[in-house]
Amino acid sequence: MGNAASILVRAHEIAEHRTPQLDKNELQTFVQRFHRQKDSFLELTKQHGSPLYVLDEKALLKRASDFSEAFEQVLDDVRVYYAVKSNNHPRIAELLVNAGLGLDVSSGDELELALKAGADKIIFSGPAKSESELALAVAHADRVTVLMDSVAELERLEKVAAGAKREIRTGVRLTVDDNGIWRKFGIPLANLRLYLSRAARCSYVKLRGLQFHVSWNLSPDNQVVFIARLGAALRELDKKQRSMIEFIDVGGGFWPPRGEWMQEAATPEGKLRHAVMEHARPKPEHYRWPAAPIEVFAEHIATALKKQILRDIPCMIYAEPGRWISHEAMHMLVTVADRKLDDLVITDGGTNAIGWDRFELDYFPVINLSRPSLTEHECYVMGSLCTPHDLWGYSYFGEDIQAGDVLLIPTQGSYTYSLRQHFIKAVPPVVSLTDGMLVTGQSSHSKTVCSEQTS
Ligand SMILES: Cc1ncc(COP(=O)(O)O)c(C=O)c1O
Repeated sequence: MGNAASILVRAHEIAEHRTPQLDKNELQTFVQRFHRQKDSFLELTKQHGSPLYVLDEKALLKRASDFSEAFEQVLDDVRVYYAVKSNNHPRIAELLVNAGLGLDVSSGDELELALKAGADKIIFSGPAKSESELALAVAHADRVTVLMDSVAELERLEKVAAGAKREIRTGVRLTVDDNGIWRKFGIPLANLRLYLSRAARCSYVKLRGLQFHVSWNLSPDNQVVFIARLGAALRELDKKQRSMIEFIDVGGGFWPPRGEWMQEAATPEGKLRHAVMEHARPKPEHYRWPAAPIEVFAEHIATALKKQILRDIPCMIYAEPGRWISHEAMHMLVTVADRKLDDLVITDGGTNAIGWDRFELDYFPVINLSRPSLTEHECYVMGSLCTPHDLWGYSYFGEDIQAGDVLLIPTQGSYTYSLRQHFIKAVPPVVSLTDGMLVTGQSSHSKTVCSEQTS
């Protein structure tokens, strides 16, 4: 079959495919939860103006304790390190440190944030760490474990640590996919034995563990598959090398339990439709890939670890969840500035607060708190940036939508605030849902002046 013909056959299969739709009752129950908190949200905009990020401290702490509990139930010795990159608000780091979590950082900036937050359990991972970043880690060797990414990094770290005459506890990251873009992380499993021999000759770098990270998992399958590969590689090591391993870090990548909510354009059949019909109007339906509960992730990962590794190498298990913990911890509040058409409104805040054109693909309900209703209406809800991709959604929940209405875009806690950009408009301030206070940043729309410090 020719190339064009096989593409058409595959296109036909995709066009026939039906991604599961998001259940309407589940969606309404989700919206209702925010209706119940409407007065608190509206009060925040009265006090601090609009747009705003709202930090929900209770939701954050609940997620952190649910995650830890799920893993502690099935593993004897487990430590949870929150991945700061998923939401780098200093107050989040501080709250999680006070709740007993460690922090997973990926740069000198994040390491400084973790140190300021008072973390005494910090893992520092990420490719191509600079000499000054390594020196900062060595200066805080009592609190930091460096997860090295390559042989060159091992050598650089040994030099930096020797210069400071300080030993540093480390691990090494393993490549989970030997093809394509994920090869940029860590060392191939096939090179582990050599790497451990090289590390054993170091005087200051103390290699004590292994790390892997598989991204975007709706179920534990990918992690379980890699643990089997890792178990096989570890069985090839000699006794002395195995005895070096005090911890195995299973990374992050746990999808929040509500699953992945999508606009039609993000489904395989929607991508195809939009590729061949450039100006296709988005369909009003919402779609969802379901995700496994965290207890299922924990149970399957623990079973695989016990079977493949822990019998021979009894070690601590680390996890680095980001999204699972921060996803529900922040919401956006914006206000309708202009009702331009019956099916198009513009809000005061733009998606520079989110950092990417998220809502053309991801679906989150836009909830009109000023006219609450469980009915969803089609309407383009757009931001005020000078780009047509500045969009919050193609619909809203409410009785109607008018200038001055306050809209909530819920659960925007992960990979949004950390990606914020001062693009055309300033970044909004952050307020706490718990006590109604400004927690950081200077409001661009009120006279409140506030330090960058958390309080
Ligand atoms: C090494 C590492 N650990 C943990 C995480 C956190 O992943 P997630 O937020 O999906 O849990 C990431 C995310 O990119 C990562 O690169």
